[in-house]
Amino acid sequence: MNVRGPKLTRSYDFHESSGFTGKYVVKEALKFLNSPSSPLKTLALAGRNPKKLSETLAWASTTPLDRPVPFIIADTSNPVTLHRMASQAKLILNCAGTFCYHGEPVVNACVKAGCDYLDISGESDFIERMETVYHERAVENGSLMISACGIDSVPAELGFLFNSMQWIYPAVLNRVEAYMNLESDIKVVANYATYESAVLGLANVDKLKELRQSKRRTARPSVS
Ligand SMILES: NC(=O)c1ccc[n+]([C@@H]2O[C@H](COP(=O)([O-])OP(=O)(O)OC[C@H]3O[C@@H](n4cnc5c(N)ncnc54)[C@H](OP(=O)(O)O)[C@@H]3O)[C@@H](O)[C@H]2O)c1
Repeated sequence: MNVRGPKLTRSYDFHESSGFTGKYVVKEALKFLNSPSSPLKTLALAGRNPKKLSETLAWASTTPLDRPVPFIIADTSNPVTLHRMASQAKLILNCAGTFCYHGEPVVNACVKAGCDYLDISGESDFIERMETVYHERAVENGSLMISACGIDSVPAELGFLFNSMQWIYPAVLNRVEAYMNLESDIKVVANYATYESAVLGLANVDKLKELRQSKRRTARPSVS
């Protein structure tokens, strides 16, 4: 796909690529961009600070790039910039947290523009509120909205799927407890946004309960 024109039609766009997690997402994406058989054909980095985007690209490029990676200036406090970003993108990968502060304007812009959206949020209150507010409009506009694609969620889901496949009927899985253990020779550090997300997650537990209680209950699967 051509990224040289002013409009990056059907491009894959990484919103907010300058943060700690965003940088690693860009590094992984560049590996796909450089591979001829990869479905990822175009990539743009978005963020509010062009200098940081430039530093991110330099840090993440381990081999020379065989195609341009444009920058898009986007600030979550400026809806016009978000709309410009979303209307040029096929898919936005959002790494700009804390999501309960910065996430909704990005979701809103994607739903309006009809592009797909994926994020690394682990903030349940944000995720479930976005689903409640935007689900119907997203379906109408053809936007696929997926949250929780970070380490909080993906290993647990894959582990659950793998475990489920090991059972032979009539034996069924009826309960899962998952633990994550981090081991490192170096000191384990968390960024401010990650720390803030964890604190806000606890602070918003009551709001989340209220939201869940306000929703229509779906039947629980029967497990015998
Ligand atoms: N679920 C999981 O497994 C998982 C794993 C890792 C991270 N996360 C979540 O991901 C989020 C980011 O974490 P992090 O550690 O990468 O944090 P970080 O290094 O502080 O990055 C935050 C990013 O948000 C951007 N940002 C802040 N305000 C903005 C605004 N007004 N407009 C545009 N961009 C803005 C920052 O841009 P600037 O560089 O311009 O300041 C930066 O790129 C957090 O919410 C964290 O909880 C989840």
